[in-house]
Amino acid sequence: MFDFDLPADTPDEERYRELANAADALTEGEADGVANMANLAALIWSFVPDLNWAGFYRVVAKEDGGELVLGPFMGRPACIRIPLGQGVCGAAAASRETQRVEDVHAFPGHIACDSASASELVVPVIRDGQVIAVIDLDSPKKARFGPGDARGVEALAARIADRI
Ligand code: SME
Repeated sequence: MFDFDLPADTPDEERYRELANAADALTEGEADGVANMANLAALIWSFVPDLNWAGFYRVVAKEDGGELVLGPFMGRPACIRIPLGQGVCGAAAASRETQRVEDVHAFPGHIACDSASASELVVPVIRDGQVIAVIDLDSPKKARFGPGDARGVEALAARIADRI
């Protein structure tokens, strides 16, 4: 259905354009957010090399504000609930800013779900002005994610915000 086998030297811009187009096509007309997040996690996993985890945490309301709860993903089982503001995911959700961490062991409060993770990219998904989820990518390679990856995942987040 899609060309998942992009050459390793494909420029980020092209790789993430292909990913966003595939994501758009795969989620179009499907109203079930869980199904869409599951397919999106699988797409990210297929299109982005050198990952050991890729998926979603959703912002879920709680009496004292909210928390992140694990959503569909690819990779090893992960921690289920993350308070807003904690870890890399919680920082992205609370600040509404992408977190690109070259060395997770140097990030204060990093939550180690998989000891193989060395670097991480977390992008908030914003719908109607609210952070509704984050997209989390982990890599066993240090400094795996550059500005091109951040831009690419931000574009993907904008594209799928009303489909999850
Ligand atoms: N490392 C994340 C937790 C989620 S796992 O990487 C899947 C964090 O610090 O928020």
